[in-house]
Amino acid sequence: MPQSSLPQGIELTPLDEAFRNDPYSILDDLREQAPVHEDTGLKRFIYTRHDDVRDILRDREFWSDPRKANPGTFTRMFLGAQQSDEEPSMLLMDEPGHRRLRSLVSASFTPAAVERWRPRIKEVVARVLDGISVQEFDLIAAFAGPVPTVVIAEMLGIDPSRHADFKAWSDQSVQAGFNPFASADEIASRDAARAALDAFFRGEIGVRRENLGDDLISDMIRAEADGEQLTEQEMVQQCFLLLVAGNVTTTDLIGNGVKALLDHPEQLAKLRADPSLIGNAVEEMLRFDSPVVNSGRIANRKIDIGGCPVGRGESLSTSLAAANRDPSVYPSPNTFDIEREDTHHQSFGGGRHLCLGAHLARAEAQEAILGLLAHFPKLAHSPRGYVYHAIPSFRGMRSFWVTTR
Ligand code: HEM
Repeated sequence: MPQSSLPQGIELTPLDEAFRNDPYSILDDLREQAPVHEDTGLKRFIYTRHDDVRDILRDREFWSDPRKANPGTFTRMFLGAQQSDEEPSMLLMDEPGHRRLRSLVSASFTPAAVERWRPRIKEVVARVLDGISVQEFDLIAAFAGPVPTVVIAEMLGIDPSRHADFKAWSDQSVQAGFNPFASADEIASRDAARAALDAFFRGEIGVRRENLGDDLISDMIRAEADGEQLTEQEMVQQCFLLLVAGNVTTTDLIGNGVKALLDHPEQLAKLRADPSLIGNAVEEMLRFDSPVVNSGRIANRKIDIGGCPVGRGESLSTSLAAANRDPSVYPSPNTFDIEREDTHHQSFGGGRHLCLGAHLARAEAQEAILGLLAHFPKLAHSPRGYVYHAIPSFRGMRSFWVTTR
């Protein structure tokens, strides 16, 4: 099929209603008909095959800094719009700056470091569940939203009285942050949220310098690698990135995961009967309905993948959602099976920029979902239904109503 008759531009993002409600059938068609798709609408090349996505994400030469992308390309528009002259955050930074920053903060996110937080995560989950006293509620607003925000706020050592501000600031930053079509009101609210966060974090860093504790801000102040330390600006940016990269994504994982269980009652019954399946179940949730639908890189040289030549500075958009359901890798890829033997997925990206918070996200989702199922033995879909949100690159629900009896 000629590429021109395939979906283009917005039609391949959650800003489009059909894609938002079911990206998978659209991505299946794309993988079959044009596994390397030139999206002339948003000036990017979209890769949907598992192996192409893996190879691009692991290529250590490709760039991530949107300032290096050609003008008008997807990366420049979606990620570069917010860039000024200041260095981008770790997610969008190239070497050697990226390696330096990552090595200064990574110790707080290793599996062992995250396991130390697991009892606190369980406490947060129990506290949020105790606050739900009605028989029908929006799972996103009442549970999947608050849990990751409170966990990261506690990890940063922030006073509980400020947790609600965090949720609001973080949501406002992400909503407009990745959307080049954001309205003037959304941009104004994003900028106000960023300014509030910036001032707040600087205050917290000042307080911790006087009195170091057992929290991530104190870890950042203590951190030293190769005789180097983080500057205050880098610490602020890192705190900001943790909120932005960790909150919506983990909320979406919990929401999408619970929805997959309620949509597949036999899988829900299996997990209720044997909660030790939770580790594999969360990996399958990540594979089956990834909270981040695409990541990407910038070509640092002329390349040819799948017979499609691409020039230096072009946007390489890797569809994580499509790669995770590639039938040449996964048997029955569209089946949700919490006992699937091979649940490996690319929902956390790969290579140098592999998600720093992957272990934390896993621990939060495992504890949240087990806690929820134990607390509500009759959890079910509510007739009030669910609505997907429209944030480019992310997949999750704005509201998801459930009943408890
Ligand atoms: C289910 C939840 C999450 C998903 C699906 C997710 C997904 C991703 C993806 C796809 C990337 C880009 C990887 C690449 O391009 O190769 C990324 C990067 C990142 N994530 Fe996550 N993430 C999640 C939760 C978190 C959490 C909880 C945190 C921290 C609190 C976090 C912090 C980061 C950071 C700092 C980066 C940048 C790493 C780098 O550039 O070296 N993420 N994440």
